[in-house]
Amino acid sequence: MAQLIDGVQADEALRLAVRDEAQDVAPELDLSALERRTFAIISHPDAGKTTITEKLLQAAGAIREAGEVRARGDSRRARSDWMAIEQQRGISVTSSVMTFRRGNILFNLLDTPGHQDFSEDTYRTLTAVDSAIMVIDAAKGIEAQTRKLFEVCRLRNIPILTFINKVDREGLSPFELLDEIADKLQLDVSPQNWPTGMGGLFHGLYDFRTDRLQPVASDADGTMPGDDIACRGLDDPVLDRAMPPEAAAALREEAGLARAAYPQFDHDAFRAGDLTPVFFGSALKLFGVTALLDGLADHAPPPQPQPARPASVSPDEPRVSGFVFKVQANMDPNHRDRVAFVRICSGTLKRGMKLNNTRVGKAIAIHNPITFFARDRELADVAQAGDIVGIPNHGTLRVGDTLVEKGELSFTGLPDFAPEILRRARLDDPMKVKQMRRGLGDLAEEGVIRLFRPSIGSHWIVGAIGELQFEVLTSRLAQEYGVALGFEESPYGIARWVRAADPAELKRFLDSHRSVMADDQDGAPVLLIRNEWELSRYGKDWPGIELASVRERQ
Ligand code: G4P
Repeated sequence: MAQLIDGVQADEALRLAVRDEAQDVAPELDLSALERRTFAIISHPDAGKTTITEKLLQAAGAIREAGEVRARGDSRRARSDWMAIEQQRGISVTSSVMTFRRGNILFNLLDTPGHQDFSEDTYRTLTAVDSAIMVIDAAKGIEAQTRKLFEVCRLRNIPILTFINKVDREGLSPFELLDEIADKLQLDVSPQNWPTGMGGLFHGLYDFRTDRLQPVASDADGTMPGDDIACRGLDDPVLDRAMPPEAAAALREEAGLARAAYPQFDHDAFRAGDLTPVFFGSALKLFGVTALLDGLADHAPPPQPQPARPASVSPDEPRVSGFVFKVQANMDPNHRDRVAFVRICSGTLKRGMKLNNTRVGKAIAIHNPITFFARDRELADVAQAGDIVGIPNHGTLRVGDTLVEKGELSFTGLPDFAPEILRRARLDDPMKVKQMRRGLGDLAEEGVIRLFRPSIGSHWIVGAIGELQFEVLTSRLAQEYGVALGFEESPYGIARWVRAADPAELKRFLDSHRSVMADDQDGAPVLLIRNEWELSRYGKDWPGIELASVRERQ
């Protein structure tokens, strides 16, 4: 059955199960009275992000059975499936945002796409959160993608809680893991609980915050948590009855050492992004999940002020404001509809309100803002600071746009990230040059790809963070602009924005490197570099020139 969303036809296939009433939320529940925690989970593929998401939703009572998130996780993993699903069904916003409630807190969990759909969106999503959970596989420690995402969090001083997952399996020692986080990420670590052994020798978790043991109860299905045991500290003989004596002795020794060796939790250091509370656990077996959720509720910050011009915006300001951090396009050639994801930064958005898009100086009526309760999509009657709403539109909203009820405002600091893959665009049909330029320009502005026009030569260079972005680009250019574009290897592997404190030095650099310079879509100068070695050579030869991998929008 077809529904109209902002004049956009959206049928069953769009999977936007928009309903007129927020049916799943008890009518007496006043959402505006709840506190907000808006966060993301960062991890390397396979560390357990999908499992922990599922278990957090389950622990909060938002879903009854585990497995619902996984079904999507798996389909998103297979690239061919992704393309097929996206193309047939149009907008898929299924797991972009998940909102759930526990007690008096409304949690907004934003998905950071991984695997093949790792893209600039993955990074940008982190601009819309106030905190993040970093999930680490106990057997693998810090992995590449976790590290990249962590660096983005650090750029914005986003506080991080750490969950070391899979302690039910053999892994590195807890000390090794903590030291690795501290060394590699330059972050103080404060363990909040301690595993008694790992793998086959795992006997449970001792919680430093509550002095309770979450013991292992084995049954035919394997390991599962038994009833919590209250302890009067690590010396309590109750521990000797809950596990073999050698396990209790090892726990006393290790946990005692850990308490002495690592810093206590420090609220200010955590909020400044200098210290991470670390929770050991097993998402799959439900160990440590509630402790993590409690940690998030107790420590993660509520909606924070957001940088903007002329002045930063406090979440308590009455006027409604927000910014677009992601645009999900429809892959259906017959529709140019898309959903812009907006983080509300202040005020209370009410359905039907008009907000000004300050980039173009035009007001748009927000008839059908969508919110995301667990797995359902609902029309939002109200949304407030910290909430994420999806706004269906015809391409009028772009990444970085500011929406505000009244007055001049522009959110700043939304970063652009240097692409990690560069390709040369190859057009076989010379009659299509105009369409290609328009298409590439539009899609670069939308944030699908990054576009570099070399100062010399006519081959445009297209940059992306993930491989899938090229496929999305090819497919959208064909469908929306009728252009068949191919890509070939580019001689360059790295692109960096060029800046200098001294304008004369900048000019000298630009003049002497014209053959390897390009303009990005906003006309900012970019240096095209072959490899890491060349990059470091530039650094040595031109100390007055900054080659930046991130550019903050002004
Ligand atoms: P991701 O979203 O970060 O990519 O990871 P995901 O949750 O899909 O987990 C990756 C694999 O790790 C899955 O196994 C999952 O069951 C397993 N896993 C997650 N948490 C734990 C844990 O606490 N303990 C153990 N032992 N395993 C865990 P899979 O075999 O790839 O998939 P499946 O067949 O289990 O679905």
